[in-house]
Amino acid sequence: MRITFDGTNLTAAAVGDEHGVSEREVEALESKAMTAHAELSRKRAAGELFWMELPYQKATVEEILAYVGRVRGRFENFVVVGIGGSALGNIALHSALNHPFYNLLTADKRGNRPRLFVPDNVDPDLIAGLLDVIDAEKTLFNVITKSGDTAETMANFLIFRQALAERLGENYAEHIVATTDRSRGALRRIADQEGYQTFEVPEGVGGRFSVLSPVGLLSAAITGIDVRELLAGAAFADERCRVPDLWKNPAYLNAVLQYILYWRGHSISVMMPYSQHLRDVADWYRQLWAESLGKRNSMAGGIVNVGPTPVKALGTTDQHSQLQLYVEGPYDKVINFLTVEHYAEVVPIPNVAEAFPAIAYLGGHTLNELIASEQFATEQALTNNHRPNCKHVLPEVNAFTVGQLLYILEVQTAFSGELYQVNAFNQPGVEEGKVITYALMGRSGYEDRRDRYLKAAERNPRFVVA
Ligand code: PA5
Repeated sequence: MRITFDGTNLTAAAVGDEHGVSEREVEALESKAMTAHAELSRKRAAGELFWMELPYQKATVEEILAYVGRVRGRFENFVVVGIGGSALGNIALHSALNHPFYNLLTADKRGNRPRLFVPDNVDPDLIAGLLDVIDAEKTLFNVITKSGDTAETMANFLIFRQALAERLGENYAEHIVATTDRSRGALRRIADQEGYQTFEVPEGVGGRFSVLSPVGLLSAAITGIDVRELLAGAAFADERCRVPDLWKNPAYLNAVLQYILYWRGHSISVMMPYSQHLRDVADWYRQLWAESLGKRNSMAGGIVNVGPTPVKALGTTDQHSQLQLYVEGPYDKVINFLTVEHYAEVVPIPNVAEAFPAIAYLGGHTLNELIASEQFATEQALTNNHRPNCKHVLPEVNAFTVGQLLYILEVQTAFSGELYQVNAFNQPGVEEGKVITYALMGRSGYEDRRDRYLKAAERNPRFVVA
């Protein structure tokens, strides 16, 4: 159940000298790559990258499974209240490893496990709409925020908490489980005060690197995903991704190839799974890649303004939406396919040969053959048009391979941070927007900035068409 990374179509031999990478170029980066490896290893040994140790947190997994056992059969719904790294991993695991229409299955077919909702926005229609379809009395809310203070998460949490109080009076604590920092933040204080079950987001685990911590594991376990296998897959990937040899390490090789292409104008990194199950892995990865690598300053402090732009696409759906641009538009992209050798189901296409000659060729084949052929065709069309592309090949989509994939992509991101010489674990660029929101919403200490911000945002009437 080993994932293969195939970078053949990123090479000059496949897509031509102008848009492909030569072995010589990779070799020229070897010393920089080994410095990056040494830095990652140093930071890991110093305990700064605890997300790399998550595959081995067996006690945490047992704690989560024991909790899941205690609440088994009690709740119809499980609502994850979080945003960014505190939601995207949950969504990715759910769509990768649960039934594609999980929430629509009967309770019996779900093994009496709860339906899962992850409303990761503060759109009033979304939150009010969710309250229309769930009964708070039959719902367990998992509020997840590492900082414990995120405006969107805490606003939604307060709304759900009030809905619980209205339905249950004061006895709602058992309907809330908080996943947050051990001691910091408003959520930790509320949780301790009101007596919620809590799980910890460990130090050294930033939001977008937290999917294999309680952040992602609780919703996975409660919906029946084999979290032990998930972590076993990640541990297997760790063995492969700590090898200091570019030609043997899938995370390092892809990072180096994409880094070379970035500086040659291929600054857009498209992830295109040919698997509905992996669609939201592309969404999770989009945040991982963007927040980790898009930076103004280098680690040394200079202004660099770097970062490849991640784009998510889905095969075959986006062949009918994006592919035209990828094949004929600017030479600014690298396409990363995620492909699957064996889908869980085999679906034959009925034979209607005589009646409809134009589609007769489909009959007798399977959807499995069709999606594989279309992936191959897309890959070939891109390659023939000198468009660099590569793929991660999953033998099948299961907990072990998904754990492996997520871990490989995390290491690839952290390693890329070292290549670009940026801090992959902070997000200073999102702070300014938060401060403006605080000022507009009247957070204490920010009031005096409100007028300044509103004035700065005055419209130019000539450029406004009402
Ligand atoms: O990756 C990150 O650190 C961010 O995307 C956070 O996950 C996001 O901002 C939510 O933060 P928190 O978990 O503190 O609510």
